Amino acid sequence: MRAFLISETNDAVTTSVVNDLPTPSAAPGEVVVRVEWSGINFKDSMVVRPKSRVRRSPQLVGGVDAAGTVVESTDPAIAVGAKVVVHGGDLGVARDGGFADFVAAPSRCVNVLPPELTTRTAMILGTAGYTAFASLLALEHHGLKPDKGEVLVTGATGGVGSWSVVALAAAGYDVVASSGSTEAESWLLQQGSRRVIGRNDIGDRLDRVLGSERWAGAIDCVGGETLHQVLRTLRYGAAVAASGLVASADLATTVYPFITRNVALLGIDAVQAEAHTRAATWLLAAQTISGRDIEGLVDSTVSLEGVRDALAIIDRGATRGRILVQVNG
Ligand SMILES: NC(=O)c1ccc[n+]([C@@H]2O[C@H](COP(=O)([O-])OP(=O)(O)OC[C@H]3O[C@@H](n4cnc5c(N)ncnc54)[C@H](OP(=O)(O)O)[C@@H]3O)[C@@H](O)[C@H]2O)c1
Repeated sequence: MRAFLISETNDAVTTSVVNDLPTPSAAPGEVVVRVEWSGINFKDSMVVRPKSRVRRSPQLVGGVDAAGTVVESTDPAIAVGAKVVVHGGDLGVARDGGFADFVAAPSRCVNVLPPELTTRTAMILGTAGYTAFASLLALEHHGLKPDKGEVLVTGATGGVGSWSVVALAAAGYDVVASSGSTEAESWLLQQGSRRVIGRNDIGDRLDRVLGSERWAGAIDCVGGETLHQVLRTLRYGAAVAASGLVASADLATTVYPFITRNVALLGIDAVQAEAHTRAATWLLAAQTISGRDIEGLVDSTVSLEGVRDALAIIDRGATRGRILVQVNG
């Protein structure tokens, strides 16, 4: 089968599209999927970095998510012929992932698609879209409601960010998009933002420990100083759903937002999510996009041969929405 193969030798990473990898078969508890579409996630760009701490194998097929048709199944709940999305677990980081004609995965990493989703729209969402909807669910579980005020989204032009804008706007929230891409303002307004601010405009009163109480909630995939600014400007009792680290994995902050404003930092993980969380999140995503034009969230479409260049683009933070990988779609 064809696959985008990542190999590391002597601290140098090489990538290539190969034609002669054996087609995987299903071990007990696994499902094999003929991949139709995949997508590029920030994590994929971390996997191809030399000495990557995300990648846990010296050689593997890349791709942390994929969607396609089941061709072999050892799980009675997932029938051969079902259209599915595959993501999470070790996929694309410690075992072969979705940039290939076929992918084998434990059935806990496989969701049968709700009827509203095709394999292509599932990958317009991808792990990034899943994470945005999981963030919305976590915030609402914490008590966020549309009448509470403005909700901030950071890294807004990226996969998680743009889907967070769409998800929140569709649910009736006043969305403020924070972006380093000033030229993307009109695009972010089209996706549902009420207004757009710069990366450095999240917090005020920078000489004080706490800023003004601005945000009724926030979805952050940037981390570092951005997450610090979000925390010090959340309103009393508000929460931020944090999933990412594009700027930094470090978090230098104080305890004051937590102990004087009762704010909450909600961790979001798409990798080991429980089955009921995965099912609820994919269902919400499917219902939200049903009948909605989501083509504006497609940055571009590449073949397996285009994955290498696409990874470099996402590493620069230069996308708007999602880059799709057309495998057999
Ligand atoms: N926890 C989980 O399970 C989970 C799941 C999915 C993703 N993630 C994480 O979420 C993050 C985003 O993933 P993604 O796939 O959405 O990535 P992405 O598509 O590359 O989007 C990231 C966005 O962040 C902004 N950005 C880039 N570099 C930045 C910098 N140095 N400082 C501040 N902002 C910067 C850019 O938006 P602007 O130009 O608009 O600012 C960029 O488009 C990654 O860290 C990823 O690993 C985690």
